[in-house]
Amino acid sequence: MQSSFSDRLLWGATDALDTVMAHSIRQSLSLKDCTRLELEYQHDVPSTPIETLYIHIPFCHTLCRFCSFHKVKFNDALARDYFTALRAEIRAVVAKGYRFNRVYIGGGTTTILEDELVHTIELIKSLTEIREVSCESDPIYFNDGHPQRLVGLVDRMSIGVQSFEDRILKATGRFEKFGSGQQQADYVLRAIELFPTVNLDMMYGFAVQTPSSVAADLAHTLSLQPDQITTYPLTTGFGKNHKKAGCLAGDPHALWPQFMAVKQTLQPHYTMEFPWTFSRNFGPGVDNKYVLDGEDCFGVGSGAFGRFGQQFRISSFTIEDYIAMINRQQSGTGYVKHIDAKALMQHQLMLMMGHGKLDNRLFKQHTGKSLWQAFPLEMLYLKAAGAISAQGQDYLTTDKGQFIALKMFSGFLSGMDYLREQARDLPQLSQTRL
Ligand SMILES: C[S@@+](CC[C@H](N)C(=O)[O-])C[C@H]1O[C@@H](n2cnc3c(N)ncnc32)[C@H](O)[C@@H]1O
Ligand code: SF4
Repeated sequence: MQSSFSDRLLWGATDALDTVMAHSIRQSLSLKDCTRLELEYQHDVPSTPIETLYIHIPFCHTLCRFCSFHKVKFNDALARDYFTALRAEIRAVVAKGYRFNRVYIGGGTTTILEDELVHTIELIKSLTEIREVSCESDPIYFNDGHPQRLVGLVDRMSIGVQSFEDRILKATGRFEKFGSGQQQADYVLRAIELFPTVNLDMMYGFAVQTPSSVAADLAHTLSLQPDQITTYPLTTGFGKNHKKAGCLAGDPHALWPQFMAVKQTLQPHYTMEFPWTFSRNFGPGVDNKYVLDGEDCFGVGSGAFGRFGQQFRISSFTIEDYIAMINRQQSGTGYVKHIDAKALMQHQLMLMMGHGKLDNRLFKQHTGKSLWQAFPLEMLYLKAAGAISAQGQDYLTTDKGQFIALKMFSGFLSGMDYLREQARDLPQLSQTRL
């Protein structure tokens, strides 16, 4: 297909953005200057609830080819010890006075030991009031497991489908694990019957995909009528996962027409909250809450990140080390990384761009600066690339602007990937003295 001049301009702009982002991620998220957190949770406990308690379950039966999340191959005894430690950490955190609005349970495979998961959610609910529990799952759980046991405990179930196309499921190693696309569609329907809110994770940017195959895959997704659909651009990062995931990835320039196919397929029936998250616009309202919303998050478990204002808190990425720390009644969170104000403002910019409006007043309220004061070069770039259009004091994001926000989101995922990679090499907490 011949590319137009404006497409080539966009590619030039996004290629430059990729280079700038990779450089700034390496600079702002390097863990070379991270410091040890004190032995206990000695920091001030906020007087109001923290938005999210993030709980990480780092086990999977087999590992998918594109995934860079923190997980190890399942071992029953280790996983049971892990859940016991996790509950001890949750009790300790609540006993210190921390409170949360929501709980997000991510993995790995959160449902890998269903009884332990149920026990853990029940414990949280017995200790403190929680507005919403969100839990990730793979599709096969709704065939092999007993999801009825989670009814009343989980409000939002987020299922990783990635694609209903068998060739993609085979290429990523998920066909053998989770079944064919048609089987997964049947499992998803069972989940939709059971839980108040169901989100389906879908991916694009694979080498075999075209705009029309992405549209067909999402048309299949739409036919199931989930409450939310999250569409992830395949992110290869620049660490160890780069080669593995890179083998599956298509030409980066193919992402723009695929993004437009995502929008055109989903938008008649779903509202785009961000260029990667869509909520159905029919039936009763959907509570739109995603873990990435710029609000504070407290992480528990091995491989969890927390974010408080200008700090990342990083827990031990070695499961035995994490358990050892909890058994000593110490914190599983061992390291703190300060995030510079500019990186936080860039995150804010990505969220606003994704949301569709750069609101000067709101931005000034958050940061004390106008958009042009905070980002003179970035604003010039966004205007020149046709990514934003002026509306009074504010700017609206165009399709191109939404695509740039999507690329920034992919940069954010790469940044998390980079943090995880470095965190695995940090000295084990139980073997170092303060
Ligand atoms: C932590 S994974 C857990 C999901 C669950 N274990 C599963 O496999 O169904 C959460 C989501 O991240 C997304 N994801 C994982 N690796 C990714 C990558 N390299 N690029 C973009 N998205 C990715 C997938 O859509 C996945 O469903
Ligand atoms: S995508 Fe899900 S099942 Fe696959 S390795 Fe990652 S966390 Fe495990």
